[in-house]
Amino acid sequence: MPTWNELFTQKEFRWEEPHAAVVACVPLLRARHARRVLDLGSGAGRHVVYLVREGFEVHGLDAAENGLAHTRAWLAREQLAAELKQGDIAHIPYPDQFFDAVISIFVIYHKTLAGLQEVVGEIERVLKPGGVALLSLQSKRGYRYRYGEEIEPDTFITSIGADAGVPHHYSDLAEIEKLFARFAIRRIELEEQIEKGNRHSHYQVLIEKENKEEKR
Ligand SMILES: C[S@@+](CC[C@H](N)C(=O)[O-])C[C@H]1O[C@@H](n2cnc3c(N)ncnc32)[C@H](O)[C@@H]1O
Repeated sequence: MPTWNELFTQKEFRWEEPHAAVVACVPLLRARHARRVLDLGSGAGRHVVYLVREGFEVHGLDAAENGLAHTRAWLAREQLAAELKQGDIAHIPYPDQFFDAVISIFVIYHKTLAGLQEVVGEIERVLKPGGVALLSLQSKRGYRYRYGEEIEPDTFITSIGADAGVPHHYSDLAEIEKLFARFAIRRIELEEQIEKGNRHSHYQVLIEKENKEEKR
């Protein structure tokens, strides 16, 4: 089964258009004077390029070298600059409170629940107080829920689809509330599309790290 690194050698997986939730988030980032943004699991770079064009200081982290190489070439073609690093999203190689915002589209559920909790802890660590994060989670309404080996409740080594062979954790609203209990949840959107008769279903969750200074 192909890894994401292998998938990025094929053009169809090197998505170019930014996700609508990221585009919709930009006015909020501006209103909050956000400057430094982390794209966690930046893939082939569509959000890195988009956010740099929009004037942000962008940092991308991904495990897949081919995605990072494509992003580097894309940035160079457009004479744009961003900081790109290879690594695991559970160990974000940046200091505490470094980012004004984190975005992570279609990434953080590639973990067990404990792994997902670890990533959420890392996002909290690297966000500044009052910083925001836009994160996708898999919903159980998606067509691949329950396909593959269930390695723990609601986590499957998916057996179908392009990214088969890696863990997919599926969440519901109750779990999302618990997962982000240390944040303020600003918005949860259920996003669904039918493709070739199959329902893709994700939550796009906007959270904010508590600003203890402001509370005093
Ligand atoms: C579906 S792609 C999404 C890419 C990008 N966020 C986008 O929306 O275009 C999933 C990405 O997550 C990355 N990824 C998955 N698990 C990861 C991990 N544990 N650490 C770093 N990157 C990971 C993959 O390499 C891949 O680039």
